[in-house]
Amino acid sequence: MNIEKSFLKWPGGKGRIIDKLLPHFPKDCQFIEPFVGAGNVFINVSAKSYILADINHDLINTYSWLKDDLAMLYNTTKELFDTENDFYDIRSQFNHPKFRETVKLAAQFIYLNRHGFNGMCRYNKKGEFNVPKGKHKNIYFPGAEMINFSNKLLYSDVSLLCCDFTQTIGLAGAGSVIYCDPPYLTKHKDSFVGYTPSGFCYSDTELLADCLYDAVLRGATAIISNCDNSATRDIFHRFKLHSIDAPRSVAANGNRKPAKEIIGVLTPDML
Ligand SMILES: C[S@@+](CC[C@H](N)C(=O)[O-])C[C@H]1O[C@@H](n2cnc3c(N)ncnc32)[C@H](O)[C@@H]1O
Repeated sequence: MNIEKSFLKWPGGKGRIIDKLLPHFPKDCQFIEPFVGAGNVFINVSAKSYILADINHDLINTYSWLKDDLAMLYNTTKELFDTENDFYDIRSQFNHPKFRETVKLAAQFIYLNRHGFNGMCRYNKKGEFNVPKGKHKNIYFPGAEMINFSNKLLYSDVSLLCCDFTQTIGLAGAGSVIYCDPPYLTKHKDSFVGYTPSGFCYSDTELLADCLYDAVLRGATAIISNCDNSATRDIFHRFKLHSIDAPRSVAANGNRKPAKEIIGVLTPDML
């Protein structure tokens, strides 16, 4: 199976389990991803149309530039990668921009993603990106992956949204397939919980299950990823749950052994 890669590194990115996910996705649907992240699923899935959403404004700004002006974003990013820069200087500029939604911010976002620690995306309570510099010897400029991603954004029917998952799932109706890959609900308090200043907790995951149930009542199909533990099995008890082994990308204690995850599927005929 030929697996396409995103131009972004992303903790919890689904590139490594894409072969286990894709068989669950119906073809020719409206594909909705409320937690699109690095888009590792979008870039590998085939659908009639796509709604890609995430609460991360910097991420959606980057996708918008990739869709609307690849050349400008590519050149600005390449220049940043090719110039001698101080990581913390770029991070500080990124956190205190004169203007929002600029190509410069989108390029800096890609720069920080590739030069920061483990591709993490984490913000403090003030909304500042606070990932430290990574320890890479060689930094890869993901030019080919940017072009590939841009082509799919441009030549498919794609809508980009920056919003909370409740709003995105509200758009789903009969024939939609919603794939949700939210921040995972782990039992361990030292596990990675980045992405947004406010985090994602038990009640958010419960709310997600309720929103998906309502969408399936309207005729949509819902598919979720999460870690496999008693809490997630309880919250997603209405779903048909498939247990899989997934390679880890980020673990606070350095544990890189495969983790048990679930893929949950809920279709209208199951209600
Ligand atoms: C595990 S990542 C998704 C990774 C993606 N599936 C991939 O393979 O690249 C989870 C995403 O959820 C987003 N997120 C967190 N809270 C959210 C919320 N309340 N609504 C929408 N997106 C949210 C984060 O910004 C992050 O990009």
